[in-house]
Amino acid sequence: MKIIQTARQLDDFIMICRQSELKIGFVPTMGALHKGHITLVEQSIKENDITICSIFVNPTQFNDPEDFKKYPNTFEEDAKMLREINCSAIFFPAVKEMYPQKDERIFDFDGLDNTMEGKFRPGHFNGVAQIVSKLFEMVRPNNTYFGEKDFQQLAIVKKINEKYLSLLNINVVACPTLRESNGLAISSRNKLLSDKSKDEAGIIYNCLNIAKYLYKYLTVNDLKKYIIDIISLNPNIKLEYFEIVDSNNLQIIENYQNIKNARACIALVIEKVRLIDNIEIF
Ligand code: PAF
Repeated sequence: MKIIQTARQLDDFIMICRQSELKIGFVPTMGALHKGHITLVEQSIKENDITICSIFVNPTQFNDPEDFKKYPNTFEEDAKMLREINCSAIFFPAVKEMYPQKDERIFDFDGLDNTMEGKFRPGHFNGVAQIVSKLFEMVRPNNTYFGEKDFQQLAIVKKINEKYLSLLNINVVACPTLRESNGLAISSRNKLLSDKSKDEAGIIYNCLNIAKYLYKYLTVNDLKKYIIDIISLNPNIKLEYFEIVDSNNLQIIENYQNIKNARACIALVIEKVRLIDNIEIF
């Protein structure tokens, strides 16, 4: 497995792959890899000749600088996991390599960022778009893999891919969320939870499933109230939002009229750890 640290080395590597007409798969990550990331890399390995996984903790997507400083750096463990599954290369650049100067670009997501994470984490998606667009331009993959757990991020990535980067012809592949045995979506943040909170966090997936079952019987508002009431029974959990959105534009809906696909999305804080999840309603 190759470990590439500079844009120049990456460019040389990509050129050789392209000359040999190899299909390139790309999985961008911030490291601290878990089973969810590994599944994305495995899918890429199956569907492409070469798989590149980037590990870069992107400073511009953190709205809280303390959060950025605290972000775990587990490069050796990450590299070991990737080597074991035969990933072709890791791109592991320094901040200066990705941001030789301040990135002033402002992206327009056509309203996809008006709700949920976009509202609760101002500037976050612009930072994601800055780094993802740079990585896409550098790697120029055929396929790139993103998890559905970050449903709004996935929509934003698809949007910038078609709106700003269409000439690169990149196919964004959405991959299903991997879950613990109690339904908790696998995330790097789960490591920060005590066993008790991890158990309690099983309520997230339970509530999403209840919503999926009950939507036919309740109005959107009554359904939201029902879920909010269940969650508020646990004083250790602080709900940030529970929303039913139109899956195609991520706008919050008040009824199901004219909606082709709906999704329930949730964010909450348990033991100071912020967790998000979502489920397709129909
Ligand atoms: O989902 C993540 O880990 C990050 O937001 C991403 C896509 C790697 C960009 O830094």
